[in-house]
Amino acid sequence: MDAFPTGHESGLETAQSDFLRLLSGLSSERDRRALIDWIGQSGSALVAQVGAGGPTQSQARYEARRRLADIADRLKGRMPLTGVLASERILAPAEAESASGLRPEHTVHLDGFLFDEVDEERLTSQGQIPPSFCAQCGSRDVQEINLITHSLSRPLLEFVFTSLLPELNPHHKILDVGSRLGSVLYGAALFTPCQSIVGVEMNSDFCDITQTTLNEFDLASRVKVIHAELSTVPELVQQADVIVLHNVFEWFMPLQAQTSIWQFLQRNIPKNGLIVASPRIEQSLAPLNTGIDISKWLRPLEPARPEAIALTEAEDENDSIFLYQVLADPGPA
Ligand SMILES: C[S@@+](CC[C@H](N)C(=O)[O-])C[C@H]1O[C@@H](n2cnc3c(N)ncnc32)[C@H](O)[C@@H]1O
Repeated sequence: MDAFPTGHESGLETAQSDFLRLLSGLSSERDRRALIDWIGQSGSALVAQVGAGGPTQSQARYEARRRLADIADRLKGRMPLTGVLASERILAPAEAESASGLRPEHTVHLDGFLFDEVDEERLTSQGQIPPSFCAQCGSRDVQEINLITHSLSRPLLEFVFTSLLPELNPHHKILDVGSRLGSVLYGAALFTPCQSIVGVEMNSDFCDITQTTLNEFDLASRVKVIHAELSTVPELVQQADVIVLHNVFEWFMPLQAQTSIWQFLQRNIPKNGLIVASPRIEQSLAPLNTGIDISKWLRPLEPARPEAIALTEAEDENDSIFLYQVLADPGPA
């Protein structure tokens, strides 16, 4: 009896040797272990997904991740490490502190779409990001530095479009308010079949960067970026089925302007429209005097496809982004 297979390898054996080849292609022991751990943790969900949607659906998901990573790599070369442009006006410290409780001197900006956790550790070990700050100068009372991202991370984008939101069809219209580098637009284009994906952004440099990237990655037929301040384009809000509001106003508009823009949103988002928001809208409105009764305006929703959550890589973060449905017809705040 042969100790080793001599004829054609079975499908399983081929898959095992392909997997070992894949594993050896990872450059670090840490990544190899992380891959094995991920398979261990999400194995049943992976088997269920392949069974339900077939390999084509899984492959499409991995292809989308790969393209998103390619886009991030391309953009890294065009942006400073902080992901903040000289043409931006990030809020003055006092306003930022009262809006979000963060002290700017203890805060480092690092774009979460461009840089993942592995990049973050590398940059910290290279001394490009300080790991901690001293709470009382000269003492050993050190605390972790606050890392602020102005873009959604790639795992969170996948969570939003494959688990948090219900399945979207090509006719659904998505609007990202404050599209910045375009991360939400790329995520929507790669994880949904929607044919109308629009970003509105008041900084023209970000619009140029996004448009170049959309052209380079062949996404411009489905995705548009519009250079405008949101309140000048009410028709975009009125037409949207899904509106993404990721930390959009807190760091970029003074409190009085935030009040007006939330009233504008309440007047224009259509009934049944879905809002994806981070932080919770209750938190964004708390320091403002908008007169909006949130309980009459919005209904918070649980993730529409919880069974898909295990397949995403955002477990630590996915309770930081929320889904709402608009209950009432638009009306004055
Ligand atoms: C935190 S970033 C969000 C980036 C992107 N949506 C994401 O999640 O990756 C907020 C962006 O909104 C833009 N912004 C803030 N207020 C705006 C307004 N009223 N109209 C248009 N853009 C706005 C800012 O210039 C900034 O680039």
